[in-house]
Amino acid sequence: MKPVVVSVTGAAGNIGYALLPRITNGDVFGPDTPVILKLVEIEPALKALEGTAMELYDCAPPLLHDVVCTADLEEGFGDADAVFLVGARPRGPGMERADLLRANGPIFTGQGEAIAKAAKKSVKAVVVGNPANTNCLIAQESAAKHGLGPEAFTAMTRLDHNRATSQLAAKAGARPGVVNNVIIWGNHSPTMVPDTEHATIGCQPAGKVIGDDAWLQGDFRKTVSTRGKAIIDARGKSSAKSAAHAALEHMSLWVRGTPAGNWTSMAVRSDGSYGAPEGIVTSFPCVCSGDGSYEIVQGLETSAWVKEQQQATWDELLKEREAVQDLL
Ligand code: NAD
Ligand code: LMR
Repeated sequence: MKPVVVSVTGAAGNIGYALLPRITNGDVFGPDTPVILKLVEIEPALKALEGTAMELYDCAPPLLHDVVCTADLEEGFGDADAVFLVGARPRGPGMERADLLRANGPIFTGQGEAIAKAAKKSVKAVVVGNPANTNCLIAQESAAKHGLGPEAFTAMTRLDHNRATSQLAAKAGARPGVVNNVIIWGNHSPTMVPDTEHATIGCQPAGKVIGDDAWLQGDFRKTVSTRGKAIIDARGKSSAKSAAHAALEHMSLWVRGTPAGNWTSMAVRSDGSYGAPEGIVTSFPCVCSGDGSYEIVQGLETSAWVKEQQQATWDELLKEREAVQDLL
């Protein structure tokens, strides 16, 4: 079988370390598809990247066709089928993700352009580096100037989706595997809206199983939306294993499709669905067809509480867009 080309930026970092062996294990394209990895780093991290690549070889991954390590963007994204845009500064204690906007935003202009110029026209790029939604918007705008449409870039809210799923399961005394169709609306930030109004636990409505709306709108929402900070406070650095896992799931669902009756949460360019302002990158429930396309799930009823929270998270994204006007 012809190898797929997968590019990963920030490959020498924490998330990269957890991500790479799983890509070469077939977790995105399946157990029969060989992979060419193109690992992109900044010059000062190329030595560390060499070590990461050596370790990868030492796993003797059966699907690994070749590894390229580079600081050259067009080489790194050359012919890419899938791109994980991880390379960016993480926040430290006491910071919000939006504090990273000026430090990380400019990374995504050059990368958006290079992906448009060098990757396959069918490329799928997931933005993980924070603040992920607005970085994704920057990459979309930059790529569009070089002929690649915004649908090629999405941002990751699958980690928040998984956090919401796990919290619901724990409260219900159930396995996460029996919880379906939570929704994350909005920004990957404390304003995100983890919505359980269409979720099910073991085929029953989640609200009915949990039977505690005050918890769903209070502690549950707070735990999910501030989980990144709680992990930084506990580990001293930001989530890596769960972030890598979510990035793999995000890409695998996008490439291979969401299961019938299920959706995932993905931050995509808003077309105005559910009243979200057009042109921001915001999380929606999405289904992926398995041919590389995705659609925002339409027609879901939302309560007055969800609508109010959605407006707040969209307002925050509009402010973030305003703050990076010079990069768009
Ligand atoms: P890290 O500091 O361990 O690694 C980041 C790597 O990116 C470093 O090796 C660095 O050299 C590299 N890098 C920096 N600028 C680059 C550039 N211009 N091109 C290529 N590489 C570059 O950080 P990490 O823990 O791996 O986290 C990476 C990013 O992911 C952070 O911004 C973090 O906040 C974000 N993150 C997002 C989510 C999410 O849910 N969206 C979850 C966890 C972490
Ligand atoms: C997370 O949600 O774990 C990441 O976005 C890291 C962070 O800064 O919170």
